[in-house]
Amino acid sequence: MIIAIDGPAGSGKSSTARAVAARLGITYLDTGAMYRAITLRCLREGIEVDDTAALATAVATADIRFEDRDGATRIFLGGEDVTEAIRSEAVTGRVSDYCAPAVVRQKLVEEQRKIALGRSIVCEGRDIGTVVFPDAELKFFMTASPEERAKRRQLDFQALGVVKTTVKLVAEITERDRKDSTRDLSPLRKAPDAEAIDTTGMTLEEQVDYIVNKAVAYLQQGNGTVPASNNLNP
Ligand code: DC
Repeated sequence: MIIAIDGPAGSGKSSTARAVAARLGITYLDTGAMYRAITLRCLREGIEVDDTAALATAVATADIRFEDRDGATRIFLGGEDVTEAIRSEAVTGRVSDYCAPAVVRQKLVEEQRKIALGRSIVCEGRDIGTVVFPDAELKFFMTASPEERAKRRQLDFQALGVVKTTVKLVAEITERDRKDSTRDLSPLRKAPDAEAIDTTGMTLEEQVDYIVNKAVAYLQQGNGTVPASNNLNP
């Protein structure tokens, strides 16, 4: 079974997807982390977003892996644990640019499909229900007001020791949404058959319960089983 969760930054999809996967005992895949890892590599190596040849090589040779450690998923780039580095302001500020070119998207979508082969998965991103897994059994599109999303981001930043005003965060989120929704390839968009969930005012527990209940109902209708394999690296 594939559960696709899309939505803009701060809509609650990452925390929800992670918790839904844990509750169902299936794999969680954060596709945004993969785009962030490529962005980190390019920034470190001075690869410009319009240098298609260098970008193609960087993506083709990037060894991105996920590992579960102490109940948390960590991401590795060429063997280095970059879980914290990919959340830096520098990466967050540029990821919408580096995730847009076709050479990046084609390769990462291929990797995402490989990870899902033969296993049940909760996959979250921007184009999961529309492009990566258009046949996903369950699709959700999570939204929340910009103010609510800014508040959630503020908590994420506080945990990193970064102080930002709500006004600045709303502006940053709105700009990232604009870039993610207007790019030519696989823009952020609700799939026609996805269920919209407005998480403004919902607790994380309510969001998780909502999707878990839908998944359980789906499975109880005899629509499939949950395979045992949860290994993230194909
Ligand atoms: O979910 P996130 O904020 O970590 O995602 C980082 C960026 O990656 C986001 O600005 C858009 C891009 N992204 C994408 O284009 N397609 C996906 N499936 C996931 C993320």
